[in-house]
Amino acid sequence: MDHTAPHYTTFARLLHWIMAVLVLAMIAAGFLMVQDGLGRSLQNALFIFHKNVGVLVLLLMVLRIAYRLIQPPPPLPADLPSWQARAAGASHLALYILLVVMPVAGYVRVKSGGFPIEALDALGVPSLVPRSEGLADLAKAVHHCGAFVIAGIVLVHVSAAFYHGMLRRDGVFSRMWPPVIRSAK
Ligand code: HEM
Ligand code: HEM
Repeated sequence: MDHTAPHYTTFARLLHWIMAVLVLAMIAAGFLMVQDGLGRSLQNALFIFHKNVGVLVLLLMVLRIAYRLIQPPPPLPADLPSWQARAAGASHLALYILLVVMPVAGYVRVKSGGFPIEALDALGVPSLVPRSEGLADLAKAVHHCGAFVIAGIVLVHVSAAFYHGMLRRDGVFSRMWPPVIRSAK
């Protein structure tokens, strides 16, 4: 690996890959758990996983946004067509926004609907929103639409990553992979 090329720090990479695994699992669990005909116990387990890991994603996002503000990403290769650089910027921004909107909407939908979030309840964290069917319905609609948008953007994002890694081979993939930078010997 070229250690002089601009790259993401180890911490930024670790956060990216931990969150990538969690978010892919959240999307899969979310779409699966709302299917008819799932066994009761599997559905309950998926809901508990989805709600509690979703709150963890929100906490990690706060850390990630704070870190990105103090440690900006490396510049893209200068020869990348400008429309691709703009598309990368826009899709990363959309992912950041959705990774806040989705867990917040999920939280509001569950808490204003009067349902549990087991980890927060066990820690004694009170609900931050009032009980309200209207609010629960609104948050449910936002969460539902957002689910399709984030799934679509993640699909484009992963395709673009492999386009860089396998076709363009311009180093953009290896600025993020592997998850940890090992020092050159
Ligand atoms: C197999 C799955 C994935 C691959 C191969 C991948 C690959 C990459 C690569 C190579 C970059 C660096 C792009 C650049 O240098 O401009 C990147 C950035 C990024 N990825 Fe992924 N990614 C994956 C999954 C995800 C998922 C599921 C999410 C959603 C949570 C995500 C969110 C982001 C964000 C927000 C950035 C921008 C980082 C920044 O500049 O602050 N990625 N990804
Ligand atoms: C990155 C975070 C999250 C992602 C990507 C995500 C994704 C999804 C997806 C794909 C679905 C299925 C589509 C649908 O039927 O609406 C779903 C449903 C659902 N999600 Fe999430 N979710 C996230 C966070 C949360 C959180 C934090 C909670 C609650 C604490 C939550 C609660 C729910 C509930 C209750 C449903 C079932 C549909 C409903 O009744 O509204 N989600 N989510």
